[in-house]
Amino acid sequence: MRVLVAGGAGYIGSHTCKALAQAGHVPIVYDSLATGHAWAVKWGPLEQGDLNDPAALGAAMRRHRPDAVINFAGLINVGESAEEPTLYYRSNVASVITLLETMRAHDVGSIVFSSSCATYGVPQRLPIVETMAQNPINPYGRSKRMAEEMLRDACAAHGLGAIALRYFNAAGADADGELGEEHDPETHLIPLVLQAALGTRRSISIFGADYETPDGTCIRDYVHVADLATAHVAALSACRGGQYSAYNLGTGQGVSINDVIGRSRAITGKAITAEAAARRPGDPASLIADASLARQALNWGPVCSDIDNIIHSAWRWMTEHRLRVAG
Ligand code: UFG
Repeated sequence: MRVLVAGGAGYIGSHTCKALAQAGHVPIVYDSLATGHAWAVKWGPLEQGDLNDPAALGAAMRRHRPDAVINFAGLINVGESAEEPTLYYRSNVASVITLLETMRAHDVGSIVFSSSCATYGVPQRLPIVETMAQNPINPYGRSKRMAEEMLRDACAAHGLGAIALRYFNAAGADADGELGEEHDPETHLIPLVLQAALGTRRSISIFGADYETPDGTCIRDYVHVADLATAHVAALSACRGGQYSAYNLGTGQGVSINDVIGRSRAITGKAITAEAAARRPGDPASLIADASLARQALNWGPVCSDIDNIIHSAWRWMTEHRLRVAG
């Protein structure tokens, strides 16, 4: 298939382009490069453009005639979304209107969409299943839920086939060292902990050590980015006209912040200074996926999401990529 990958120059998008190429598809990256990186586009053409620009998107579709779309484009910083909500609604919601209209105009009938466990808010129970209420507690989570609703409506009205993938905590880097996480600013736990190991950051702040969890720190379900990538390839073949589905992507294993720091010390062999700090607003104590539905419907399961493998691959990326960039 020829697949237009919006946001394909970003972290999860670029890993998915590699997996698409390995599965025999042609990934056409459509990315504004506002946060993505041209160096991460290695498996097909790059069309630089904004998802909110219907003329540029339409021209890219005319040129490349994609059979399907995967949409990773958007903003991802929960804290920023509370400060600049309209930015998030423009980037994560309005852009999906443009995308759906342009797809319809160009007869593109399938879409796989990046959604998030942030759409659940504070979960009623653990592990989280897809049928639980989606009550997001920040504009980022609401923007993803709104986009999901638009997809569902477009499936019902226009025969679109759409699959939303609700990621838990994406982490890790490509096993061959070709790709990895490179956000600016970085806000995610594992790269920040590894920066403290590298010495480019003095210490890691633990946002809350008084949660009702076994060690007092927040528990998350870390899933390797390469496992997320294979889920997108599987979802692409599972899209059916007129059908909307949403699947959790996680391991079902909870790992605390203290666990992440402890394993990072062991894997890097470096001292990592950690300091307890105030809770970060909007953080649920624990988020753990039940991904049984993805297993049934997509025949998907994580194969490289062991926390040690996640940290090891991220550490390799950080140390080797940094040396390459430094020349
Ligand atoms: N954390 C720290 N110190 C830090 C950074 C993070 O203690 O310096 C804690 C957070 O408070 C949280 C855990 O580490 O308890 C993980 O935080 P991340 O920022 O790495 O990721 P989140 O759990 O906040 O991820 C959320 C949603 C995802 C969403 C993502 C968007 O769970 O669905 O934000 O960036 F995609």
